[in-house]
Amino acid sequence: MCGIVGFIGSKNAKDVLLNGLEKLEYRGYDSAGIALLNHNEVYVVKEKGRIADLSEKVAENAFGEVGIGHTRWATHGKPSHENAHPHQSTSGRFTMVHNGVIENYSLLKEEYLKEATFISDTDTEVIVQLVEKFVEEGLNTESALRKTLSLLHGSYAISLIDKEDSQTLYAAKSKSPLLIGKGEGFNVIASDAMAALKETDQFIEIMDGEMVILTRSGVQILSAEGEEIERAAYTATIDATDIEKGTYPHYMLKEIDEQPAVTRRIIQSYQNEDGELTVEQPILDAILEADRVHIIACGTSYHAGLVGKNLIEKLAHIPVEVHVSSEFGYNMPLLSERPLFLFITQSGETADSRQVLVKVKEMGYKTLTLTNVSGSTLDREADHAMYLFAGPEIAVASTKAYTAQIAVLSILAVTLGREKGIAAAKELDLAVELGIVATAMEAMVASKELVEHIAGEFLATTRNAFFLGRSVDYFVAMEAALKLKEISYIQAEGFASGELKHGTIALIEDETPVLAIVTQENINWNIRGNVNEVLARGANACVFAMEGLEQPEDRLVIPHVHPLLTSLASVIPCQLLAYYAALHRECDVDKPRNLAKSVTVE
Ligand code: G6P
Repeated sequence: MCGIVGFIGSKNAKDVLLNGLEKLEYRGYDSAGIALLNHNEVYVVKEKGRIADLSEKVAENAFGEVGIGHTRWATHGKPSHENAHPHQSTSGRFTMVHNGVIENYSLLKEEYLKEATFISDTDTEVIVQLVEKFVEEGLNTESALRKTLSLLHGSYAISLIDKEDSQTLYAAKSKSPLLIGKGEGFNVIASDAMAALKETDQFIEIMDGEMVILTRSGVQILSAEGEEIERAAYTATIDATDIEKGTYPHYMLKEIDEQPAVTRRIIQSYQNEDGELTVEQPILDAILEADRVHIIACGTSYHAGLVGKNLIEKLAHIPVEVHVSSEFGYNMPLLSERPLFLFITQSGETADSRQVLVKVKEMGYKTLTLTNVSGSTLDREADHAMYLFAGPEIAVASTKAYTAQIAVLSILAVTLGREKGIAAAKELDLAVELGIVATAMEAMVASKELVEHIAGEFLATTRNAFFLGRSVDYFVAMEAALKLKEISYIQAEGFASGELKHGTIALIEDETPVLAIVTQENINWNIRGNVNEVLARGANACVFAMEGLEQPEDRLVIPHVHPLLTSLASVIPCQLLAYYAALHRECDVDKPRNLAKSVTVE
């Protein structure tokens, strides 16, 4: 998390930095700052809060053709002015921004910096102080930075300016994302291409352990040993208009509305010339050679993985386990002989998932990443990759990536099943069924008024809420609860409705909101029985049911779709419910407290 942007050119870096930071705000937003270098003078301004608060504080005449900026998600030290980046060395010669976590920062402080005075609680200040110490000992800035990097354990993306050299911008990365944006007469660095798209569409990757020296006209990439590396630029394919809100009040609402179009784009992207849905043969072969698939993911992607397991097991008869990344890496279950690891990650940067990828690769296992971000770390490092084609997802609460993940997993499941000759897969015309889903999604995104009303009635003032479901509806209930927690701060749980009576029903009081999702015929009556149990105990219950299963008292009817694909439609009213609950409670929908979109620390 945390976003970095840096600029060196022949115009004022101020606007480039502030505009870039705004685009990176999804990575963290508890404090922000910039530093501008102008004729051996460094102007640093930082502020607790959002980029908008920082912009107000930056002097109108602030100027520098070299600059670095940062938006923070606190890891070391609480969000405060002191802990906000950029950080400076004692003499003020060096100024740095950093994303990542330096695990050995206390040891480094103890060993090298006993004499130094520290202003903040951050690990970053240790890095910038080390650079100054090694310069004072006689090294030039480049060598001092190289020596400092060699001592760091953990993850970092950094950018550094030297007050005595306004011709150079330094950067380096290991395990945290950072890219070079190449321009005519200027260069940029950024945690994400989105932050620099306004300036350029030419980007160069930086690999772990490398250091970069940028001038206005030159890009020098150096290995940890100081050897120069040649690397060509690539053209970013993101459309700059995709990252704007347009007329929407929030990115989240825009992204909810995009889901039917994304589903149709996925169908097209995976169709061959004959209109058949296909997946690259090497990916299918890798999975078919495996005796078990382990899905590894976090948050919303984990919930998509649960639906994916159902699809792959039902359509391809391949056993699948779904694991939370942060648990799996440190307490691995007994593995079968030939497992394949499938990483589901919208951003492709989640550190919890990456630590598993690194471990299982070391163990020699095959890996596949399903991601929305081509060129991201998990995309590059896995043996195979599949893409979501969902377009940039900006709102912290993931919506369109969830449905895109499930849609792509359904394509993977059906193509695997066909390869194996499984009847259920051969008989399913998935392109047609996903088309029906896209139409059902349209009906669901059009149900805003009704869902807004339900959110007002059930969730405007409540302390807690329960979502109930069985089988695949249970997985959607978990996602519905996560959405509600994330953006409205209501304590919410998704429950397997049959399990409620085994303990949690004790929490049901008068007016406790309970929302049940019913899309599967075989459990329709069971779940309604569970709803009656909570109603009998005073709950304020409400059912969202699939067409054909609905009862007169149900509050919302989801258009009929194939039983294996219901989650794609049923999740949408749940996303909208969270959205309107957050609005009713005056919460910041796109930037909920304490969260960040891309979590690049474990
Ligand atoms: C963060 C985000 C969640 C997201 C999770 C996994 O916690 O706030 O919305 O689901 O990371 O992210 P990924 O990019 O790996 O799917």
